[in-house]
Amino acid sequence: MSHANLGKTDPLVAPIYQSSVYSIPDLDALDAIMNAGEPGYIYARDAHPNARRLASQLAQAESAAWGVVTGSGMAAISAIVLATLQKGQRVLASNRLYGRTVQLFTEELGRFDVATEYVDCNDLSAVEAALQKKPRLLFVETMSNPLVRVVDIGALAKMAHAHGALFVVDNTFATPVLMRPMELGADFVMESLTKMIAGHSDVTLGVVCGNDADMLPTINRTTSIWGLASNPFDCWLAERGLATLDLRMRAACQNAAALADWLGEQRGVSRVWYPSRPDHPDHALAARVLSGGFGHMLCFELEGGRDAVNRFIHAAPGIPFSPSLGHFTTTLSHPATTSHRYVSPAEKKRQGISDGLVRLSVGAEALEVIKAEMAKGLK
Ligand SMILES: Cc1ncc(COP(=O)(O)O)c(C=O)c1O
Repeated sequence: MSHANLGKTDPLVAPIYQSSVYSIPDLDALDAIMNAGEPGYIYARDAHPNARRLASQLAQAESAAWGVVTGSGMAAISAIVLATLQKGQRVLASNRLYGRTVQLFTEELGRFDVATEYVDCNDLSAVEAALQKKPRLLFVETMSNPLVRVVDIGALAKMAHAHGALFVVDNTFATPVLMRPMELGADFVMESLTKMIAGHSDVTLGVVCGNDADMLPTINRTTSIWGLASNPFDCWLAERGLATLDLRMRAACQNAAALADWLGEQRGVSRVWYPSRPDHPDHALAARVLSGGFGHMLCFELEGGRDAVNRFIHAAPGIPFSPSLGHFTTTLSHPATTSHRYVSPAEKKRQGISDGLVRLSVGAEALEVIKAEMAKGLK
């Protein structure tokens, strides 16, 4: 059944196929779709046109052979671990990861007899030593949450492969504008599309990208069976966001670099974390491996701890306390009470996540607008 007669014309913008199920001409047509890979759709949890379109655009952006869109960034990580790990296998992960990822590895995978070891991925000899235990996966973030520590993706890919491990990269902070881990040997790259890629804080989605053709049906199957799939409207919005990713990302990176230097001169700010600055521990590495900027995320430390952060939030309402990232204007978060809330005090101390640490997701608005609001907060 056709719903619209468009003649010889096509809509410039792809329609939203807001349908959970499709009508199929007959049983033979069903077999052709399911067994012979003929084009067509059956049930949206398995596949739908908006997800397929978005996935192929994202795969191209990431230099990957394929992509599978999932219902969130966490669903993307879940799809990878569920598709690749067997009971009793091990995971080796960076010791600077988003808090929920750590919970997934330690608490959830732990229930399935999968042990995770955490290692400082900026210390390649420590990684080499940990790889001797033959983990199935090595998992890192290109730029870590929150202190934007940068790792050497190419070197880690080689080391993982030399020990028979799959190398998985969470590229959410960098986005394919700054880094394409597939080009440096990653087996899977995943993104939380919720952040910079969709870019307007109105979508929750993720993507898994890969090159191994055999893994595509496995990731698709896992996504359907475990119920990790996306919905059409979110995919449509994310496609619209992706179209301006490059512009937004480059503007935000420029703003972030200027703001980091400005913050470094302000009274009441004891430290700034941004990789363009020579005092960032990974400055030289970041300058070598990132292209087009040093990212839209930065952190600064306020003298006066939690109270100072609360005062800043009240005094600078134009920079909303909004614990996500990647919005088109600047937002603020407080890692100690949000993304890293469930991390132990000792671990927070090791990572440098103090009560006075503020994380900024810098937007693409005029720099002077951001600075004026920041100045109110710091006064
Ligand atoms: C680095 C990173 N990875 C993954 C995720 C999870 O993504 P989502 O919230 O889309 O599930 C987040 C969320 O904040 C994140 O910051």
